[in-house]
Amino acid sequence: MVETRVLIGEQKVMEKVAELAGTLKEEYRDKHPLVIGILKGSFVFMADLIRMMGIPVEIEFVGLSSYGKGATESAGKVKVVQGLKTPVKGRHVLVIEDIVDTGLTIRFLLDNLKKKKPASLKLCALLDKPSRRKIDVPIDYLGFSIPNVFVVGYGIDWDERFRYLRDVCFVEV
Ligand code: XMP
Ligand code: MG
Repeated sequence: MVETRVLIGEQKVMEKVAELAGTLKEEYRDKHPLVIGILKGSFVFMADLIRMMGIPVEIEFVGLSSYGKGATESAGKVKVVQGLKTPVKGRHVLVIEDIVDTGLTIRFLLDNLKKKKPASLKLCALLDKPSRRKIDVPIDYLGFSIPNVFVVGYGIDWDERFRYLRDVCFVEV
């Protein structure tokens, strides 16, 4: 049996998402941004965020994978599982990530997107595990810095489990 425990409760999560959305609303009000979610973990965060932003946005998803099924350690190699279909050139791009861990996944995506010449390129992440960082990535809009625990819930899974939890929780592995 895998036990989960609350790390950040639903109410705190929602307050933080509202705060981020308020900032993003001002930043992107007249820019019709292309908001790119990294599948699958960011989908709940992104759904709440764009509704709280309450301004017109275009959404897209990319599937990237650096963890093997069941593993909790980054393989160190990023694979594109699902590519972008929308042109990025000249767009204001906002990337939405669930967790920045080693930084390898997001660095790979940001480097790729930069080559496509967006008008601007920013990163919004719900969670950051700074103690695990291997490669420097600036997080423009951050929810919470957390210790090195394996988190689940609010869209984030452990081997496809626990995405439905309303709190950000952690598992003992
Ligand atoms: P890197 O190491 O490339 O990894 O920054 C980022 C990706 O790894 C996943 N990740 C986690 N997934 N619980 C998860 O379910 C975690 O605690 C965790 N830490 C990292 C995440 O998908 C992120 O996109
Ligand atoms: Mg992810």
